[in-house]
Amino acid sequence: MRYTLAALASASLVLGHGYVENATINGQSYPFYDPNTDPYTSPTPERISRKIPGNGPVENVTSIDIQCNGDSVDGVIGSAPAALHAPAAAGDNVTLFWSLWPDSHYGALVTYMARCPDTGCQDWLPNSTSVWFKIAEDGLITPESAGGQADIWAVDSLEVAGNAGYTYTIPSCLADGFYLVRHEIIAVFLAGSYPGAQLYPGCHQLNITGGAGSTVVDSDELVAFPGAYAGTDPGITWDSSSTTYPIPGPSVFSCAAGSGSGDAASSESSAVATQTLVAASSADSQTSTATTPATAVSPTQAQTTISASSIASSQISSTSSTAVVPSATSLTSDATPVAAETSAAASTGKKCSKRRGLQRSNL
Ligand SMILES: *[C@@H]1O[C@H](CO)[C@@H](O)[C@H](O)[C@H]1NC(C)=O
Ligand SMILES: *[C@@H]1O[C@H](CO)[C@@H](O)[C@H](O)[C@H]1NC(C)=O
Ligand SMILES: *[C@@H]1O[C@H](CO)[C@@H](O)[C@H](O)[C@H]1NC(C)=O
Ligand SMILES: *[C@@H]1O[C@H](CO)[C@@H](O)[C@H](O)[C@H]1NC(C)=O
Ligand SMILES: *[C@@H]1O[C@H](CO)[C@@H](O)[C@H](O)[C@H]1NC(C)=O
Repeated sequence: MRYTLAALASASLVLGHGYVENATINGQSYPFYDPNTDPYTSPTPERISRKIPGNGPVENVTSIDIQCNGDSVDGVIGSAPAALHAPAAAGDNVTLFWSLWPDSHYGALVTYMARCPDTGCQDWLPNSTSVWFKIAEDGLITPESAGGQADIWAVDSLEVAGNAGYTYTIPSCLADGFYLVRHEIIAVFLAGSYPGAQLYPGCHQLNITGGAGSTVVDSDELVAFPGAYAGTDPGITWDSSSTTYPIPGPSVFSCAAGSGSGDAASSESSAVATQTLVAASSADSQTSTATTPATAVSPTQAQTTISASSIASSQISSTSSTAVVPSATSLTSDATPVAAETSAAASTGKKCSKRRGLQRSNL
């Protein structure tokens, strides 16, 4: 039987995974690159978001596709810059609206920024250089073991039709300039072995103006994509019976620590955190476990801090001087395994297709 484009498009809506459809930035709504229509629209619509090949995941964390999406396996290598930038101010909230997220795909929401050249992001590909700093992360908010009927994950709120979207705050201390924002869902329902975790990255471009900030993030706090994640990271290869989820990558950038305006204690702890961050983002997670300094918060504290969404969804306050390092320590043996829940992998019966794009969407 022959499928019409419309049939394929609606099939992808039903069976697909997802992507960010639009954003509200400084009161203005911006449609994002639509992989179902933009490739077939002439002239090509100009967007603030970079091209994505479809609604499917990236699983290879060492591929350039992990940066702003892509499908190297099928010849779509990484992403290309977008034409536009959304104007915004440091401290603004940006709300991203994902397509309705499938409830089997539980996982984390993680957001990074990178400063583009002063000429803009529209020609810029960072490749594998270290340019990214993490500005927000939300993972396993409440484990089932805390008394609920199921784990509560950051993506859960995106699984309800007409949801309020996901909001991140542009760090208030950032210097004006052009920035590339890398936002992803890391779905971990199949993360028991690598490759298995499904990453859904996408990038959008901001023109940050009119702010009072002057912070340019130190180069030693920056990570690369690919580079920031390794298949052996405990948040990339993750046992679904675990009661904690260590979000991969560096600790969240804090204006209080990063601007040097904090007190001596906070500067010190941020320096420690930065070193830990470098260790944690190295390819060998064993190394990061071994070198995590005693000052790093305990797994329980780390989880609690992340759960409170205090870093992710609100502006980083100058009182939060302790950088949270969601490192390999979160998988220590004192985590009490709960009775193994029916995993999404088991309930869906098969691994989600890696296939991308309209013609190849999961059929
Ligand atoms: C992952 O990507 C890297 C870099 O492109 C490549 O060398 C490697 O073969 C890929 N791995 C798989 C399993 O495709
Ligand atoms: C951003 O959202 C936070 C949390 O809702 C709120 O406290 C803050 O005032 C908002 N910032 C702006 C600039 O609207
Ligand atoms: C943005 O995307 C969401 C999620 O699909 C949708 O509900 C909403 O109507 C869209 N908003 C605009 C302005 O297109
Ligand atoms: C990234 O790669 C492209 C294409 O090879 C190159 O033109 C560009 O200069 C590189 N960017 C950086 C920041 O190295
Ligand atoms: C960035 O914002 C500034 C200040 O509003 C504006 O003058 C400039 O044209 C903008 N640049 C781009 C490329 O959007």
